[in-house]
Amino acid sequence: MHVMTTSSAATAASPTLVAQIADRIDPRSVTAGDKAILRFLAAAELIEDDLWQQYAELANDNPEFNAALRRIDPALVRYVNDDRDDERSHAQLINAFLAAIGEAPVNLDAFRTLPSVDAQGAAREGRLTTLTNLTVDTSWYTRYRGAGNPDFDDAFAQIVTITNRPTVPTPDVSKRGQVQAAAHAAAFHFAAIEQGGGSLYASLMPKVTSLDVLRILASIGPTEVYHFAAFHKSLEGIFGLTAGDGLVVPDLRNNRALAEAIFPEPCRFLRNDFPLCSVIRPIGTAAAGAQAAATGLVQSGLFGQPGQPGGQSPAFFDAVVALAQAADAATRSC
Ligand SMILES: [Fe+2]
Ligand SMILES: [Fe+2]
Repeated sequence: MHVMTTSSAATAASPTLVAQIADRIDPRSVTAGDKAILRFLAAAELIEDDLWQQYAELANDNPEFNAALRRIDPALVRYVNDDRDDERSHAQLINAFLAAIGEAPVNLDAFRTLPSVDAQGAAREGRLTTLTNLTVDTSWYTRYRGAGNPDFDDAFAQIVTITNRPTVPTPDVSKRGQVQAAAHAAAFHFAAIEQGGGSLYASLMPKVTSLDVLRILASIGPTEVYHFAAFHKSLEGIFGLTAGDGLVVPDLRNNRALAEAIFPEPCRFLRNDFPLCSVIRPIGTAAAGAQAAATGLVQSGLFGQPGQPGGQSPAFFDAVVALAQAADAATRSC
């Protein structure tokens, strides 16, 4: 893993925070598996910070994108900013904890090499992620409305097919008058990212040994779900849209029975003969673990094509895969 000791604004841990954590924790109780879990989560949070930072810049300072998001839900711009702040705080806390137990914090700054989108509002700086060619899995929408569960190999239909599209106002998007289509796709991406985070934390929790590390996962994980719920609720403002290039978004405002089914429908859980239960799903390693999460992000196009122009270096993918494998391999010992 490319872990460096220099720190950026996004990764710096305040000395006070480190000292406060070190006062209360017992480093000897943190196992190698716990550290592997924390390292992967730190990387995931830095990646989240990077993508939410890009969304926040454009939501705030690109007038067309700002208006398009507000047409869906006037609160969306605020949610995007708050989410960015939260992800940054997650990365900082996990890295502060790693430092407090004598481990190197995770630093991905060497991989901030992807270009910013060439649009008003976007700062010109290197990024970990790109939002210009995304394939967004929207099957979570139907998954949370049925009794099936990916942990039982159930499959779910997409509510919208979003394939190889920008979710930000690229020059081409603006030229073709498709900023609203980009905002619609982004609104689904917002919730998609956060539901994945909720499942990821739930999948890693049973592998944790240290109670201090468990407290971190049990407190940050539900915050991802909190984000998911807010962005999920925002989709009640999705109006029908046909972009002319294949994107067809149904009018969720006129389908209130579907749109307002906002809480998780009870589903299969743990064992087939148990009663259906309203829960986060999936939570198994195969469908929700670190490797599944990393694979999902890679396949969505969030890092571009490996080694291609505008894509992350093979070293980045190797580092993320190694972190994910180590996290999934952790086992609780006590
Ligand atoms: Fe987070
Ligand atoms: Fe998140």
